[in-house]
Amino acid sequence: MKRAFRCHIMEMLRSQKKPHLSFHTPGHKRAGADITELSYSDNLLSPRGVIARAEEDVARIAGAERAFLLTDGSTSGVHAMLLALREAGITRVAYPAFSHKSVKDGCYLLGLKGVEIACARTPYPRQPSLDAIKAALEGAEALLLTSPDYYGNFPPLQEAARLCKEQHKPLLLDGAHGAHLHGTKDYAGNFAQMWVDGAHKSLPALTQGAAVFAGDKFWAEKLASSVVRCRTTSPSYPILASVEYAYKYPKNEALERAANALKRELRAEDNADWTKLLVAFGTECARAEAFLEERGVFPEFNDGNFLMFYLSPCTGLRELKRLKALLKKLPRGEVCIPAPEAGEEGVRTAWVPLKEAAGRLCAAECGLFPPCVPLILKGERISREAAERLSAAPNTFGLREGKILVFEEDA
Ligand SMILES: Cc1ncc(COP(=O)(O)O)c(C=O)c1O
Repeated sequence: MKRAFRCHIMEMLRSQKKPHLSFHTPGHKRAGADITELSYSDNLLSPRGVIARAEEDVARIAGAERAFLLTDGSTSGVHAMLLALREAGITRVAYPAFSHKSVKDGCYLLGLKGVEIACARTPYPRQPSLDAIKAALEGAEALLLTSPDYYGNFPPLQEAARLCKEQHKPLLLDGAHGAHLHGTKDYAGNFAQMWVDGAHKSLPALTQGAAVFAGDKFWAEKLASSVVRCRTTSPSYPILASVEYAYKYPKNEALERAANALKRELRAEDNADWTKLLVAFGTECARAEAFLEERGVFPEFNDGNFLMFYLSPCTGLRELKRLKALLKKLPRGEVCIPAPEAGEEGVRTAWVPLKEAAGRLCAAECGLFPPCVPLILKGERISREAAERLSAAPNTFGLREGKILVFEEDA
């Protein structure tokens, strides 16, 4: 697709003077796009040149008061939003139990009290109900929801925004999976005081490219001072340029229509986000994934029941057709959801091998990576299915060398 828009950072990188003898970092000493902050390339922490112009454009596109480009993923944006809350005197934040680890780690690092919102997990981690949000918000001064989530579902945004407004509590949105929604009714910026977009996930930005936004002057000021504490001091220019590019990249409505039609044709999960194609393979999941990978087709994740295929405006219609042809050949198995059972948490903990863990009480949440949301929550009894799923997964979080943390339950 021909680019018909101006990208300030990319233009600056392309117009470098030659010769360029590098007596600066990075150590590879090659002039090119991967430069450091030089006299002509602006500075991410106090932008006045091309980065400032890029941030202004991105803020305008996102309908925000301020935008801050990030080269450290949505994680740094989540942390910056939480720090902004703390700088505003807020110490208790409500968030769904199945929030990404960046939310929980951020609260941990900043000493914020997290108030978990109960969520169902059938047949995969679900968004919380409005009633559950209401109940948790009673004990918190701010709300942080994920919108949309990895499975393509949205929380009750309008109602949550109304609730927060009535209670004078800020609403934050983790839009790690929602950058492609800018300009639509579902976009985080229509509801939140602060939100983060993972540009690298659903827009054509390089990995780790993201942006964090404030919707009004008050939070813009708070975020401006918090974001500089959460970002690297050596930003990658290719990533910065790609984030600006990603927000200016045109929508691909033909693909959106094709993706929605494909969902219906494949009887994929009925979610609300065209970029997330979620197909239930249940007990056939691993075999389906292997079949696809042998043919060079790689899904975003296999959570043991579902294969998730992540689309973006750059997905080709031809590739979508190829995916359809392959998926149609594959048998579907039964979806198995380990029913969680809560237990009495103890004081002493121990790391035990996963194969001995069934029936024990989990002492630290853990899960598959991605989607990086907990499969087993702290205080839940570990089912055999969940332990087997963790053992079989190539990448996990919350485990240590094949062991899981459990509470010692004295007989
Ligand atoms: C819901 C959610 N929030 C935040 C993040 C963190 O994003 P990043 O990997 O860009 O730091 C992720 C990553 O997968 C995510 O799924």
